[in-house]
Amino acid sequence: MAKQNIYDNDIFYENFKNIRASELNYNDVIETPIITAMLPELKGKNILDIGCGMGQHAMQYAKSGALYVLGIDISEKMLKYARENNIADNIAYRKMAFEDLNQLDEKFDVITSSLAFDYVEDFGMLMKTIHNMLNENGVCVFSMSHPISTAYDGIYDRYTRTETGEQLYANLHNYGKEGVRHIHWVVDNYEVYHRMFSTLVNEIVSAGFIIEECQESKLPEEFRQEHSDLFGGIIHQPAFIFFRCRK
Ligand SMILES: C[S@@+](CC[C@H](N)C(=O)[O-])C[C@H]1O[C@@H](n2cnc3c(N)ncnc32)[C@H](O)[C@@H]1O
Repeated sequence: MAKQNIYDNDIFYENFKNIRASELNYNDVIETPIITAMLPELKGKNILDIGCGMGQHAMQYAKSGALYVLGIDISEKMLKYARENNIADNIAYRKMAFEDLNQLDEKFDVITSSLAFDYVEDFGMLMKTIHNMLNENGVCVFSMSHPISTAYDGIYDRYTRTETGEQLYANLHNYGKEGVRHIHWVVDNYEVYHRMFSTLVNEIVSAGFIIEECQESKLPEEFRQEHSDLFGGIIHQPAFIFFRCRK
C-alpha cells in the first residue's frame, strides 16, 4: 500500500511548520477546540495519537493526566520537532506508518488522530486495526478533512467566483468520485484520499464501532468576520469532520 511521506520534503515541512506556528492557524483555532471537547476523560488512560506530527496534541493529553501517550508518525522531521519541543515523562514518540500499526503489540484506552487520516488509502482497514488495538469500551476520536473539502480534484477552481474573484460557492462536481487526489498544495502532486460521507460512516460501523458523536467544523461568525482574509471562504463549508467511536 502507498505510504506518502510529504512532511519530510524540506519545502513542505518548512511551510507547514510556519503555518502551524502562526498565531491564527486552522489547527489551534478550529480543530483543537472541537476534538478536545469530544475526548473522554483522559486521567490514567493509555493513549495512542496516530500521525502525532510535532507533538502538540500528545503534550496536551500528557498534561491532562494521561498515564502514557504514544505518538506515532511516518515523518522524521515532525518527530524530531516533537522530541525537542513537546516532551514529558509520560510521552513516547515512535517512527511508524499507520499502515504498519498492527505491528504494535499494545492495547490502548483511547486512540486519537488529528488531521492525518486524509492520507490513508484503506480507511476501512485502518478502522479495523484501531478497533483491535482498543481495550474493551475504548474510544477512538479523530478529525480529518471534510469530504466536501477532499472532493476537490485540482482540475477546476475550488470555487465558483464573482467577476472580482470572491468565493461564491465550492465546486463539488466530482464529490461522488472517490479515491486519490493529486493536487497542488505548497508542492505539486500533494496526495490525499477522498471518500464520501457515507463511506466514512459505513467503514467505521463495519469495523465494529458505535458512532457516539460526529461534528463538522464551524467558525464563530464574529471570528470569521474579524479575520475574513484567513477564514472568509469557509462560511458555508466545513473544513474538517470529527468522529467519536466506541468499541
Ligand atoms: C496535518 S499533519 C497533523 C499533525 C498533528 N496531528 C497535528 O494535529 O498537528 C498530518 C501528519 O500525519 C502524518 N502522516 C501522514 N501519513 C502518515 C502515515 N502513512 N503514517 C503515519 N503518519 C502519517 C504526517 O507525517 C503529519 O505529521
